[in-house]
Amino acid sequence: MSFDLVFFGGTGDLTWRKLMPALFQAFRHGKLPAGGRILSVARDEQSDAQYRTWLHERFRDVEGAKRPTDEEFERFAAAVFYRRMDLSQPEHYTHLKEWLQNRPEGPAGTVVFYLATSPHLFTQICEQLGAAGLNHERVRVVLEKPLGHDLESAQAINQVVRSVFNESQAFRIDHYLGKPSVQNLMALRFGNALFEPLWRRESIANIQITLAEGLGVGTRGPFYDRTGALRDMIQNHALQLLTMVAMEPPSSSDADAIRDEKLKVLRALKPFTPESVARDVVRGQYRAGHVEGKAVRGYTDESQVPPDSPTETFVALRTEIQNWRWAGVPFYLRTGKRLAARDAQIVVNFRQVPHAIFPGKQRANRLIIKLQPEDGLELQLLAAKGSAHGENLAPVSLDLDFDKAFAADRVGAYERLLLDAIAGRLNLFVRSDEQEQAWRWVEPILDAWSRDTEGPRPYAAGSWGPAAASALVARDGFTWPEEV
Ligand code: BG6
Repeated sequence: MSFDLVFFGGTGDLTWRKLMPALFQAFRHGKLPAGGRILSVARDEQSDAQYRTWLHERFRDVEGAKRPTDEEFERFAAAVFYRRMDLSQPEHYTHLKEWLQNRPEGPAGTVVFYLATSPHLFTQICEQLGAAGLNHERVRVVLEKPLGHDLESAQAINQVVRSVFNESQAFRIDHYLGKPSVQNLMALRFGNALFEPLWRRESIANIQITLAEGLGVGTRGPFYDRTGALRDMIQNHALQLLTMVAMEPPSSSDADAIRDEKLKVLRALKPFTPESVARDVVRGQYRAGHVEGKAVRGYTDESQVPPDSPTETFVALRTEIQNWRWAGVPFYLRTGKRLAARDAQIVVNFRQVPHAIFPGKQRANRLIIKLQPEDGLELQLLAAKGSAHGENLAPVSLDLDFDKAFAADRVGAYERLLLDAIAGRLNLFVRSDEQEQAWRWVEPILDAWSRDTEGPRPYAAGSWGPAAASALVARDGFTWPEEV
């Protein structure tokens, strides 16, 4: 079906770093529906040709094999257009409407508005789209995270979105849901009979979700300093992963069947109190150090970050899910910038065997769902070496590398999500009630921090965060994966 895809924030970082390269990959893979047009709108005055040249320059930053040849770029860019827009001016939306209607073969089957702007513009854009009649049934609106700064601002945005669009037209993006490994988690849990009987408190000792980055805040200082790791990564990406791991089997693969189950998990998360925040949440901020052998500066020396900033660049926390399946099982979430490595994974630590018949300490089984840099699955088991001596058991791993196994079919997160938005598939997008519930859950942490004068704990860049994060799991008798 033909489509028009409009990027608000067409000259912004997200558009040229992630969205356009992802669309290009979809184009290269032959997945972009024919007859599509891509329109970037932003404040600057420039022609289509100037925008294409500008974009071509940006594409030189695209890594290795993903970079288009000049000939490929030209073919892709033939469908890319640019218009200047002042987002506060109603007549500019009228011009946009005219542009959308002005197609030789008639209006597109689908119109997708992608709001890749700062969230404070979301309500204005939605209201103006509504006023211009650009909210009809063929329209979808994609809202990039962060959607608001707290529960109140998220609710305010959602209220406007709901007053202009139906919920089925609203695509709230969390790009972690588009990662192949996260799809695979669904397949693992609900496409196999093997794990489901074990996926509960009787067999699982604890679950650890780590989203670690080696990078610092780079050029995003002003944004990041207002945001911090809790809002940037935990409220959305980490909690979405947690819902995927912990939800009950949905009755079907329909978007709402899945989102209903995810919402139940978020509602069952143990609420924080000032006491439990002090005990179960660790916040940190990086100091100068070395990452992969390179000296890097501390957070407060980063460009456009205030020297006395109290913003956290690391969070580790312990929570529980209050339902029959998970009662008493600790879930640990951890994220940070300038950590020892780029490493995102979910570790499911199974319980020890109920009665040990072999001598020595035995390691419990562990399932590692690797999100990045590798995309795979590792199941750690114990095997017998067959030696004549006492030390007979050895850990072995069933190790699956999906990047290799499915190389030809793997698509990046944004590519997948953009294609889903164009096709109207909502499964991998977040519903407003999920998002608001996630804010509700993190708010007591934000409140407690706003009253706490101690600030974040320092950690050296290139480490795994403050020592208190190790103590958090050690208190329950566990360790993080790198400490095993
Ligand atoms: C974004 C955050 O949502 O996710 C960034 O705003 C973070 O701060 C990024 O770096 C991480 O995404 P990925 O896919 O590189 O793990």
